[in-house]
Amino acid sequence: MPAIVIVGAQWGDEGKGKATDQLGDAIDYCVRYQGGNNAGHTIVVDGERYALHLLPSGVLTPGCTPVIGNGVVIDAGVLLDEMKALADRGIDTSRLLISANAHLIASYHVTVDKVSERFLGKNKIGTTGRGIGPAYADKISRLGVRVGDLFDAKILRQKIEGALEQKNQLLVKAYNRRAISVDDVLVEFLGYAEALRSYVADTSLVINQALDAGRTVLFEGAQATMLDADHGTYPFVTSSNPIAGGACVGAGIGPTRIDRVVGVIKAYTTRVGAGPFPTELLDEDGERLRVEGGEFGTTTGRERRCGWYDAVVARYAARVNGLTDLFLTKLDVLGGWERVPVCVAYEVDGKRIDEMPMTQTEFHHAKPVYEFFDGWGGDLSGARAFSDLPKSAQVYARALEEMSGVPFCGIGVGPAREQTVMLRPLP
Ligand code: GDP
Ligand code: IMO
Ligand code: MG
Repeated sequence: MPAIVIVGAQWGDEGKGKATDQLGDAIDYCVRYQGGNNAGHTIVVDGERYALHLLPSGVLTPGCTPVIGNGVVIDAGVLLDEMKALADRGIDTSRLLISANAHLIASYHVTVDKVSERFLGKNKIGTTGRGIGPAYADKISRLGVRVGDLFDAKILRQKIEGALEQKNQLLVKAYNRRAISVDDVLVEFLGYAEALRSYVADTSLVINQALDAGRTVLFEGAQATMLDADHGTYPFVTSSNPIAGGACVGAGIGPTRIDRVVGVIKAYTTRVGAGPFPTELLDEDGERLRVEGGEFGTTTGRERRCGWYDAVVARYAARVNGLTDLFLTKLDVLGGWERVPVCVAYEVDGKRIDEMPMTQTEFHHAKPVYEFFDGWGGDLSGARAFSDLPKSAQVYARALEEMSGVPFCGIGVGPAREQTVMLRPLP
């Protein structure tokens, strides 16, 4: 089973880092294929907590080669800081490979991200402010600067000039900000060139050769299905394609290469930033989930919006990703409720619908139709077999599995690597 994609099935922060780490020694390569340092993947190994933003989670596994694919947008300063912070904790990052085709996030992208959010006012997306959207916009507008450009100072200057020409007009005339100097950006980027040179590779070639040789490659999605620019709750999305198909584009492999697609899904739902969220709880129940689940952002520290599990979202994620497995996380967090609601369908303008509504307007109007499950007490964190779980928790998990139409491969009962009930071997 050599090529596995791990993808968020909700609005992010499902526990993708933990699910990736779970595969541990079984993977030879761990590839990030989209997003940038908007991601925050938390992994707990031997009591040590690591929060990764740009580095693939596989960096924590000795022997695994972490790869940053062409589809990622890289803030080189953040990447180097992250590498240093890990090195200071004794983690070897020397195996890292970075695609020469990955685009760079420049300080002007961060500026434009923040300024345009401010100008959107109450319509803002609630971005992470990391320059992600503007960097992808430049990529698609053919104004981007790629990692490979760092090694040709003449080309690099031309590209920065091209990128700043329009942006400075916009910053000065529309946003009333200071123009950004080409020289300042050039000097900063040239400073990164030497630091990154030894890591840069033709990562598509490396990955395809690894697959040819029967090695196991894991493609680690950031963000999630409902934040996908095409299939998520547009415009309240990120600016890349986190869904499984994005792994092909963002890593340079063909779709026929992928053997397994694992969706990671929380036993309830969270969302950071603005946008529709049918099962959101704005009362003390939402606050209880937030506190008991520790639902505060890994990247921005923002409070995550919390709500009940949404089976419509799960089915939709199964469809657009072609999920072969689901990994359920944080079942332990749901202990102590008398009953646990699950959204099984929506009511939209008086009509029940079982699938994701087709239009943004309908989704904004969607009201959850709930089915109620008996709660359970006790601490689940010691469970290692399905039969260790309380009966009601078993019923709940099996019901979610049935509603999604996808077999569960594992259930998380705590943040640590070993706090998992494995149901189907991965890979
Ligand atoms: P990611 O962005 O999808 O990797 O998820 P985050 O790391 O942003 O958020 C998930 C949080 O839940 C992290 O703090 C994890 O350590 C934690 N976590 C993951 N799985 C479990 C689980 O099964 N139970 C509990 N209690 N925490 C978990
Ligand atoms: P991981 O990988 C949760 C959200 C932001 C905002 C929207 C657009 O940890 O699951 P962006 O900065 O990407 O332009 O913001 O997407 N967002 C995330 N929410 N988890 C993430 O990553 C996210 N990355 C971006 O909050 O609503
Ligand atoms: Mg996260």
